[in-house]
Amino acid sequence: MRVITFACQKGAAGKTTLVGHVGVQAEIASAGPVVLLDTDQQGALAEWWNSRQPEQPAFAHAVIDQLAETVGQLREMGFGLCVIDSASAISPTIEQVIAISDLVVIPCRPSPHDLRAATKTIDLVDRLGKQKVFVLNGATEGDRLTDEARAVLSEAGPVCPVAIYNHPDYADSMFDGLTVMEAAPGGECAREIEALWNFLSGVLDQTTPRVADAPITTQRGASA
Ligand SMILES: Nc1ncnc2c1ncn2[C@@H]1O[C@H](COP(=O)(O)OP(=O)(O)O)[C@@H](O)[C@H]1O
Ligand SMILES: [Mg+2]
Repeated sequence: MRVITFACQKGAAGKTTLVGHVGVQAEIASAGPVVLLDTDQQGALAEWWNSRQPEQPAFAHAVIDQLAETVGQLREMGFGLCVIDSASAISPTIEQVIAISDLVVIPCRPSPHDLRAATKTIDLVDRLGKQKVFVLNGATEGDRLTDEARAVLSEAGPVCPVAIYNHPDYADSMFDGLTVMEAAPGGECAREIEALWNFLSGVLDQTTPRVADAPITTQRGASA
């Protein structure tokens, strides 16, 4: 089982949105079974999952001090991918989450404030010796800031070649416990998420080869 964590000190960078979307897209791409973990006490991912009708991806409860054990159990249960949401902070908790991850995805909005805020997360991931990649989120068509942000982030690590654009479908779909791939299949947003997963999958394949996994059950009534 591979473990991807979305982390960024800046709030509203898109961590929770992208964890849900990447989890569902990985199932669509047969990279599962996928299990989601919410390590943010605000529990937005858990609330979204509880409002969801489709059974996949699964959701597991996260107790921070037992994260390594939890991940070990999920691996034994046969999950192929664990996608973890984290709080908008630099804290010992975030450190524990990053420490058990194979790959850290740092979402960043193309703005000077967001770029500056990403620095602390970058430093933490580097200090823990974990692989990191960036994804530009909330981009605007034709905005030079997106290109500038890509250039700045590229100096620190790989950046997903496709940016996630600012589009109301990302929020709308999640109201109903869904994602853009389920609410508007084949649309522009669905293609962006597909490209994001393909990028992440390629990075994981280079560093964390996949092993065979068995199917498992899901839990309802999740909380963070
Ligand atoms: N690409 C996007 N386009 C439009 N709205 C977005 C996009 N990404 C995130 N959002 C919205 O921005 C807000 C913050 O996103 P969220 O995923 O909760 O960020 P974080 O978990 O990093 O704090 C939410 O209301 C979400 O619906
Ligand atoms: Mg969040």
